[in-house]
Amino acid sequence: MKKIGMISAATLMASGVAAWADELSVVCSAEQDWCDLMVGAFEAENPDTDVLMVRKSTGETLAQIRAEAGNPKIDVWWGGTGDPHLIAAEEGLTQPSGVDTSKLLGWAQNMAEISEGRTVGIYAGALGIAYNTEILADKGIAPPECWADLADPRFEGEIQVANPNSSGTAYTELATFVQLFGEDEAMERLAAIGANVNSYTKSGSAPTKAAARGETGVSIGFMHDMVNQAAIGFPLAIVAPCEGTGYEVGAVSIIEGARNLEGAQAWVEFALRADIQSRAPEVGSFQVPSNSNASVAPQSPDLASIKLIDYDFATYGSSETRERLLARWDVEVGDPNPQQ
Ligand code: G6P
Repeated sequence: MKKIGMISAATLMASGVAAWADELSVVCSAEQDWCDLMVGAFEAENPDTDVLMVRKSTGETLAQIRAEAGNPKIDVWWGGTGDPHLIAAEEGLTQPSGVDTSKLLGWAQNMAEISEGRTVGIYAGALGIAYNTEILADKGIAPPECWADLADPRFEGEIQVANPNSSGTAYTELATFVQLFGEDEAMERLAAIGANVNSYTKSGSAPTKAAARGETGVSIGFMHDMVNQAAIGFPLAIVAPCEGTGYEVGAVSIIEGARNLEGAQAWVEFALRADIQSRAPEVGSFQVPSNSNASVAPQSPDLASIKLIDYDFATYGSSETRERLLARWDVEVGDPNPQQ
């Protein structure tokens, strides 16, 4: 028996299989600094594991996971907006993690319920508008207060937002408009805002970084990304739109067929721990954590004081809805210069 065990271990080593146990392939769809902190903290507790991490936007990650179905290169997908995680679950591209969700807030457990345990919430954050106070003052443009303001010609060429095909942030915006105004009016409003958009970026936080640096006057994105830039000292003001707004539940999922399943499960448990979630503000990530025992940074936008819609994750996190909305967006709003 012993001999057989040794032979199979040697065979595994020769085929490279054994190396998988030491490597954990993670796609991170949160901010790069937080991704780096998580990798460092995980490796410190698991010195035999080498985490190979890349940062990719949420829609791009869903596209990669779909393309690699049956032969995945990724073990675990951490961060990014929840709708594409739910869609991956619905398409059987992710698997139940079996983690204990009892310490998590209701909105995080909801993700696990909808997906039958295939994804779970790690953080939440609301969508908003940011503007560069110096640029708008210099140009004599009155600041926006509502989504409707962004369609006003006074913002011509001043607005930046991400493309909802690649970015989960921008998909959250698209789904929010549909929930606020109905599908047809949402497309009309997004097209009217589109007339003022100077560029559709791949990543959701890029427009806010551009607004902070004065490369654009106004951005649409998550308020916690805006707080991050304002905290650095950039002249950025943050607006909770008067009509109300949507929010994300960032999520974590284990890929179906993950080569390092044990490592992936360890990562999910680690990512849900209160002490680990409480470290996000160290790197300027100000989402609301999902573990009820984690500390909330004083800078985190207070979701209770923002007019939030009752975001329907089951509907907007379904494949059919996302494909239909993106197809309409491509035709009725559209990015004239898509980034490769
Ligand atoms: C930023 C935010 C996250 C969000 C992510 C989505 O990193 O801090 O809260 O989940 O954007 O990224 P994406 O590029 O897909 O819009």
